[in-house]
Amino acid sequence: MYDANGTFYKPDRGSTPQPDHIMLSFCGDAKTQIAVTWRTDVSAGDGYVLFSADGENETRTDAVCRVIESDIDVSKFNTARLTGLTPGTTYRYTCGDDRNRSETFTFTTQEEHCERFKFLVIADHQCGMPWERPDYSGVRSMLLDALERDPDVRFILTAGDNCDDGQNELQWNGMFTGMQGIAERLPYMMTTGNHDNRGFRQYLPYPPQGKFYLDHADFFDAQFQYAYPQNGPDGFETENYSFDYGDAHFCIMGINAPEAVADWAYDDLQKTRRTWKLGAYHFPIYPAIPEGQNDDGYPWLRKAIEACDLVFEGHEHSFARTFPIRGDAMFERPSQGTVHLQCGTGSGGRGGNEQKIWHSVFFPQNVPVYAIAEIDGARMTVTTRTADGRTADRFVIDKQRDTIDPPALPPIYCDTRMMYKGSMPQISARGTRCEQKDGVWFAPFAVLAQYIGADVQKTAGKVVVKMFDVTAAFTEGSDIAQTSAGDAPLGAAVYRAGNQLMMPAQAAAAIFDVRCQYVEHNNILDFETAREESPLSPQP
Ligand SMILES: [Fe+2]
Ligand SMILES: [Fe+2]
Repeated sequence: MYDANGTFYKPDRGSTPQPDHIMLSFCGDAKTQIAVTWRTDVSAGDGYVLFSADGENETRTDAVCRVIESDIDVSKFNTARLTGLTPGTTYRYTCGDDRNRSETFTFTTQEEHCERFKFLVIADHQCGMPWERPDYSGVRSMLLDALERDPDVRFILTAGDNCDDGQNELQWNGMFTGMQGIAERLPYMMTTGNHDNRGFRQYLPYPPQGKFYLDHADFFDAQFQYAYPQNGPDGFETENYSFDYGDAHFCIMGINAPEAVADWAYDDLQKTRRTWKLGAYHFPIYPAIPEGQNDDGYPWLRKAIEACDLVFEGHEHSFARTFPIRGDAMFERPSQGTVHLQCGTGSGGRGGNEQKIWHSVFFPQNVPVYAIAEIDGARMTVTTRTADGRTADRFVIDKQRDTIDPPALPPIYCDTRMMYKGSMPQISARGTRCEQKDGVWFAPFAVLAQYIGADVQKTAGKVVVKMFDVTAAFTEGSDIAQTSAGDAPLGAAVYRAGNQLMMPAQAAAAIFDVRCQYVEHNNILDFETAREESPLSPQP
């Protein structure tokens, strides 16, 4: 950091000659390779790892070293990629230079034939406060307790927001302080979230300015460039990568450049011959935030996401699990779609979210949670636990029997129902029915608009809907809506059914920048928009 005279001084928790931020990661074949990454100050000499298994001579692997100036410090970031390891073997290792060595830690390679293994999943374990010395002790004690309950966990997978601002080293200093004694012995496989690699335009002096300003993960990439497999799409390798463990393939998708990530991820998932295809992507595809959008990366990423059995997601700090979903239709069997698991938060906090129709399980408690996933042949069990050890959710996907247990039947409605961002008008739309005529869906669109909070004025034979910044008048018998932007053709005339007016659903919705599609399997007219503002009309 720099003082008022522009003189550099070492920040609290800054780098020293002694290795810190020590982290294991898979960088290739988990049976024979592992990466060790650590930080020192610039006075440290050439970094290397010394490692040995029982009865073996010590082997030295030199690190790739990069001198990197962060916003507060200048340090050496070292990564040594150990290769030629023996499968199913525990190794002792130290890292550092000739003078300053770490204490001795261990890692264990994957055995040659691995039918059964466990890994731990956390998401959104970011802890921004106190900003000058972020406190990750809560996450740390949750993980230590979790690893005591399940000591046979092989690695940790995250679903993003690993820290509160990835461009700011104060945050990583906090995170790695929390991971001490954990990341040195278990590979720490990070997915990037918006806090990791978009961050703020300027974090210091506090409070930060320009939230999520940055487009790309400069400091994340700088630190972890050699830690993970370099097999992602061109220019976005560090935040996108894939690896195998046992009979599972993990595809880690970053949040930047979804158009580039999409093709890479889809190809990557097509190529694998592993039984389990697991994805990790920070933004939830089926959000629990009431006004949350069906993620804007999804038009590109859909093919890749839908090639996965299960995707670990985060961002909204709620726990939610979907039915198997494909093409926005909800199903019962795992072969019919992808299960989306919103992993909650590893650090607690937030709220205000709701269970949507696509969530078979949801809970809004603001308690820190983590998940233990266990793959055993064709069965995968995912148990989500609260920090104090209570079971929040447990389900088993059985690929052989093609079941999810406990079973959950997705909704299949007798009468076609309207849905907006996963929420359904219940009381207000009772007694009204959507109808299809000559291939066109008609819906009481004003009822949906009213339900989601728009201003709706009904007069004889006419309804005026004010939603977002658009006003539109629909008149019984007319195939034109009068809107604040001029006349909008509806393609078919508005008619009355019971005590409501029925509009051509797609054309009426489009006036408000809302799209509408019919989901046949569930018999739902699905209204969705990329807009995230509330349609609630303000009190004048
Ligand atoms: Fe988050
Ligand atoms: Fe996030």
